[in-house]
Amino acid sequence: MKLSIPDPSLVLLVGPSGAGKSTFAQTHFRPTEILSSDGLRAVLAGDANDQAASGEAFHVLALLLNGRLKRRLLTVIDATNLRDTSRRRWLGQAARYGIPTVAISFDLADRLFEEHNVLRPDRQVETDVVRHQADRMEAAMAALPGEGYSQMYVLREPPALGEIEIVRIRG
Ligand code: GTP
Ligand code: MG
Repeated sequence: MKLSIPDPSLVLLVGPSGAGKSTFAQTHFRPTEILSSDGLRAVLAGDANDQAASGEAFHVLALLLNGRLKRRLLTVIDATNLRDTSRRRWLGQAARYGIPTVAISFDLADRLFEEHNVLRPDRQVETDVVRHQADRMEAAMAALPGEGYSQMYVLREPPALGEIEIVRIRG
C-alpha cells in the first residue's frame, strides 16, 4: 500500500494507545521529523507517562512545530490526536504557513489496542484508559473527513512491516 504524502506537510497520526503510532512513525520517518508527546514528557519529567507534564510537553511541541513549519520541514505529530481541539491547534499552525496536512488514522479493532498494550515492553496503559480512547476514536473518525486534510489515510489492520510505502511528493 502506497501512501502519498506532500513534502512539506504536517502529518497527524490519530489513534489510541497501542495503535502502533510510534512504531509506524519510527519505521517511515526520520527521528528529527517526529514530534512525540510521550518523548517530550520523558524529556521534561523523566517519565513518558507523567500526565502532570502534559501541558508543558504540548507547549514545547507547539514551539518545535512552529519552528519546523516556518522552515517548511515535513513534520509528524506522534500523539493520540483524539481530541478535535488538539488537532485544530496543529491544523491552525500549518495553515498559518500554508503547509498541507495529512491524517493517518489507526482505526483498528478495539481488542487490538488492548492486546498491543498488554504485550508491549516499554510501558503499559491501563485497559480502562485504552477503552475510553477507543470510544473517542469513533468520534475522531466521524470528525476527520470534515477537517480539511489534503490526504486522509485510514489503516484498518496493523500495518505489517514493509507493507506500507510512503511516497513523498515534493511541493
Ligand atoms: P502510545 O504511544 O501509547 O499512544 O501507543 P502507540 O500508538 O505509539 O503504539 P506503539 O507503536 O508504541 O505500539 C504498541 C505496541 O504494539 C508495541 O509493543 C508494538 O511492538 C506493538 N505494535 C505496534 N505496531 C504493531 C503492528 O503493526 N503489529 C503488531 N502485531 N504489533 C504492533
Ligand atoms: Mg507512542
